[in-house]
Amino acid sequence: MKSLVKLLIIAVMLTPVMAAASGGAKLLKAPIDINDKESLRRGAQAFGDYCYSCHAASFMRFNRIAKDLDMEEQEVREMLIHTYNEKGAPTKIGDLMEVSMTDAYAENAFGTSVPDLTLAARARGADWIYTYLRSFYVDEDRPTGFNNAVFPDVGMPHVLWSLQGLQEPVYETVMHGDIEVDEIVHFEKIQDGKLTRVEYDVFLGDLTNFMVYIAEPVQVERRSMGWKVMLFLVVLFGFAFALKKEYWKDVH
Ligand code: HEC
Repeated sequence: MKSLVKLLIIAVMLTPVMAAASGGAKLLKAPIDINDKESLRRGAQAFGDYCYSCHAASFMRFNRIAKDLDMEEQEVREMLIHTYNEKGAPTKIGDLMEVSMTDAYAENAFGTSVPDLTLAARARGADWIYTYLRSFYVDEDRPTGFNNAVFPDVGMPHVLWSLQGLQEPVYETVMHGDIEVDEIVHFEKIQDGKLTRVEYDVFLGDLTNFMVYIAEPVQVERRSMGWKVMLFLVVLFGFAFALKKEYWKDVH
């Protein structure tokens, strides 16, 4: 019992420290709409172009994406399948979204393995991913030349820099209890990218939307199933009501 109390006291004392350690960066609200298939398709394209070379999404199959997002197999092939199996044949449409990069290669290149992204949106939350992807900033002290405001000393390079452009952080000193902390309050653009700020937000919104979808693909089905069930119940009510009238019409 005593040790439990001690543990509780330690936990309470550590709470502000943990809050400070999270960097205090505010998360932005990701514009997620799982029913917007246009957005999901654009997100799939972005994922195939910029993420899938390093990150696997190995609980997901290509043909599931084709079915859920109303795409032809050939479209998915062009969008996402750039890999070959060990026999040198193109990866099949029914295969899982794996990558050929080994952990050893990644450790060597990035100092860490590359996490699978299938469940990232559930583990981190959509808002975290959306904020993370726009919080890379120039930092000459890092091996990749970039750091990240919500993932300090991240091993991932800023693979979207040509779209977003380059930015530098602006700091302000804030108090966390008695501790002074230099916090990033906003970023200053030092070089423009191919996309405007608004276009980049839309691009990241689509990409995050796609990541939310792969983390729980049944959402898409569940929602359309929900409407079908409601429609079925309305029709059933119509019949039941007509039947009730038929039964009771002679009773009065
Ligand atoms: C060049 C290889 C590479 C590419 C391309 C890449 N990443 Fe990463 N990514 C990494 C590495 C390495 C890490 C691990 C970073 C660490 O632990 O320090 C990572 C980490 C992440 C994480 C954090 C996962 C977690 O929960 O810890 C997310 C989210 C992520 N990447 C998303 C993306 C998205 C979205 C794209 C495409 C726009 C992308 N990555 C493209 C190498 C890459």
